[in-house]
Amino acid sequence: MLTNRQLFLDHLAQTSDSPLALQIERASGVYMYGENDKRYLDLISGIGVSNIGHCHPKVVQAIQEQSSKYMHLMVYGEFIQTPQVRLAAQLIETLPQNLDAVYLVNSGSEATEGALKLAKRYTGRREIISCKNAYHGSSHGALSIMGNEFFKQAFRPLLPGIKHIGYNNPEDLSLITEQTAAVVVETIQGEAGIRVADKDYMQALRQRCNYTGTLLILDEIQCGFGRTGTFWAFEQYGITPDILLTAKGMGGGMPIGAFISSKEIMHTLSHNPVLGHITTFGGHPVSCVAASACIEVILEEKLTEHVSRKADLFKKHFNHPGIKEIRNAGLMMAAEFESYPVLKKIIDHAITKGILTDWFLFCDNSMRIAPPLIITDEEIIEACAVLSGC
Ligand SMILES: Cc1ncc(COP(=O)(O)O)c(C=O)c1O
Repeated sequence: MLTNRQLFLDHLAQTSDSPLALQIERASGVYMYGENDKRYLDLISGIGVSNIGHCHPKVVQAIQEQSSKYMHLMVYGEFIQTPQVRLAAQLIETLPQNLDAVYLVNSGSEATEGALKLAKRYTGRREIISCKNAYHGSSHGALSIMGNEFFKQAFRPLLPGIKHIGYNNPEDLSLITEQTAAVVVETIQGEAGIRVADKDYMQALRQRCNYTGTLLILDEIQCGFGRTGTFWAFEQYGITPDILLTAKGMGGGMPIGAFISSKEIMHTLSHNPVLGHITTFGGHPVSCVAASACIEVILEEKLTEHVSRKADLFKKHFNHPGIKEIRNAGLMMAAEFESYPVLKKIIDHAITKGILTDWFLFCDNSMRIAPPLIITDEEIIEACAVLSGC
């Protein structure tokens, strides 16, 4: 009989020649358990997903209850489904007043797609601006606004009318004009290797968008849901987007995303043409109850309150001699090493010692550290001791 490893390599589409290929049997809290019950401390949260830890009991219970009531009933937007309306109401509670219309989708990429269409439709303009080294997803529209040529060039033609500006570069803001439908920006850049913009820059960006009538789309797919120490990262900048993107950590481990805007803007998707964005599974009821439970856990367990202290603990105790710099926004961290080969050796060694880290799509000399927010001080200190010796 073929092993799971052989089946994986032979019959699952591969995305690289060197997958991690860890076989995980179960996961709970900050740990994943592999073959022979080998335990791995998860320092990357499935790439920014498991903010409240794996298999949080509240999420599991919500999923069990909802799946015995109903699962898929009808395409998004037709039926009144309690899990969807409850989740929308909870999301809006966490947001400023202008963000009061939630379009539920399946993933981060779909949230990006929906938002791009909404911005074109609302403004009647075609030009979209995004940042160099930006990652907003892998579907055609999201790929078009990616700020990295290496991953795009094989897939042209992509969307026309795309321009890129330097993240945190005030001089480039003049490229935003009355032609620009939307500027899409990660509030904290993730795949660029954790780049944190200045408050002044973000406020100037907001002002420039107001001046030119351009919609500001903030992508909080990776940096939202408590990751940086506030529920939404933009809260730390004193600005509000016109459209907000979320996914990843939103579902407590289940697939779901959303683009969120004002009723006035969102209304344009319902006419001329009707059904401006269609999704069969968007806002799946089982994912919605998981997301509702996830919001409750973040708020009730006050997970954001400890983020900054825990990040400081990492910075204090992670003392590998090869570290050049540590960048972070809360528990969204990057430890930079001399080169990819140097870092890769450390990451591989750490895995043998039961610690899972990673690097970044556009920054392969930096180690990704983004543990579940529930990680304890002791677990951080222990992980740093192991990593520092790798
Ligand atoms: C900032 C950001 N935007 C969008 C996406 C795309 O999300 P998904 O993989 O769910 O399509 C990601 C995924 O890594 C992301 O980090």
